[in-house]
Amino acid sequence: MFYWLHRTRRVVRAWHTWLGGAIALCLITTHALVAADLLYADVQALVKIGARAAGSSRAEQASEYLITEYRKAGYQVEIQTFTYPKFADAGSSLIADGKTIGAWALVRSVAGNVTGQLVAVPNFGRAEDFKAVNVRNRIAIVQRGGNLQFAEKIENAAAAGARGILIVNNQPGNTRGMLLKASAIPAASLSQEVGTSLLQQAQGTSILATLRVKAQPNAIGRNVIAHLPDIKQPQLIIGGHYDSVEYSPGANDNASGTAVVLGLARSLSKSPQARQIWFVSFDGEEDGLKGSEAFVDRATSQFLARLKAMLNFDMVGINDRLLLEGSGAMSAIASSINGPVSSNQLGGSDHLSFKAKNVPTLFFFRGKDPNYHSPGDTLVEPRLLRETQATALKITSTILNQASPR
Ligand code: BES
Ligand code: ZN
Repeated sequence: MFYWLHRTRRVVRAWHTWLGGAIALCLITTHALVAADLLYADVQALVKIGARAAGSSRAEQASEYLITEYRKAGYQVEIQTFTYPKFADAGSSLIADGKTIGAWALVRSVAGNVTGQLVAVPNFGRAEDFKAVNVRNRIAIVQRGGNLQFAEKIENAAAAGARGILIVNNQPGNTRGMLLKASAIPAASLSQEVGTSLLQQAQGTSILATLRVKAQPNAIGRNVIAHLPDIKQPQLIIGGHYDSVEYSPGANDNASGTAVVLGLARSLSKSPQARQIWFVSFDGEEDGLKGSEAFVDRATSQFLARLKAMLNFDMVGINDRLLLEGSGAMSAIASSINGPVSSNQLGGSDHLSFKAKNVPTLFFFRGKDPNYHSPGDTLVEPRLLRETQATALKITSTILNQASPR
């Protein structure tokens, strides 16, 4: 009985201590957590959209998310579009015997819809193989492989008068075949499973088919530019890319940097500093800095000359150590706030487009992680986003407080 009472008291006391501690912890951290949660919520929202390869509908969705968030924070938003050569399959298909089958356009195939009888080409589609059948005004279907390039099979089919060609994969599943230049006729591949049985069927019976190659030769990229109303000449550009590589949801590369840029915009929106800044979420970085290149190419030399700096954020959500790499006067400023600056031999990013135009740049990054450019790039550490933003706020003030432009 005594033991029971004692134990109960101890439990109650422990419970009180725990409760008190928990409440105190909540009060202390609520403010920080709200900010961190906003940054992390941005990363989660972008990751949820999925891989944001420039030119895809998901990248466009991401741009819409950013537009909404910048507007909520009180900014005016401009979308700067740009076009560059980038092949995309916008949903190609084959209809054979009335059934729709998934077909993958070969990279650089011409677009087009063609209808005709399916003709099974023997062996692997050498010129002499096409002599054994009549593919004129029909659609050729042939196996992949046999030491013959996709392009050679397609050229042989076109030379024999085929309207289109289907190549059946020689391994399980389908494959994204690539050509070095545009094909003369629509060309697509089929999975081994579906393609092999269609190839066999075509040998015995007459199959009418329609091949639809929906190919887009160019991508449209969208830079999202946010600034307070009527600010035409900033002193500072704060940016980071929001596109990702295909098949990667790009949490660290680079929803992390995108979130920090957005977070800086939110936290500065009511400060006079915001009148000196343009916030830019770049597209097309993963295709070779296309968005930042379009931005600097369209800016006047006066606009660029009046910039004190461009700050770029790329991969800032994993790895404890924040790394800064600066050009011009930026190295000194960076090291006065964040310790010795590093030199990044790991990768290129959007600041390079500004550096090439003699704009001083400062690159914020934390280096590669095991999920770099892979489907596993789904997580970042909220604390690291918050720390990056805090350091960037200090650096922003220091740059803007410098007496004269460069
Ligand atoms: N975020 C990376 C670059 C990077 C990697 C910076 C590691 C810092 C540490 C960027 O998105 C990228 O992949 N860039 C390409 C080059 C670009 C011109 C296509 C790269 O580094 O290979
Ligand atoms: Zn990146």
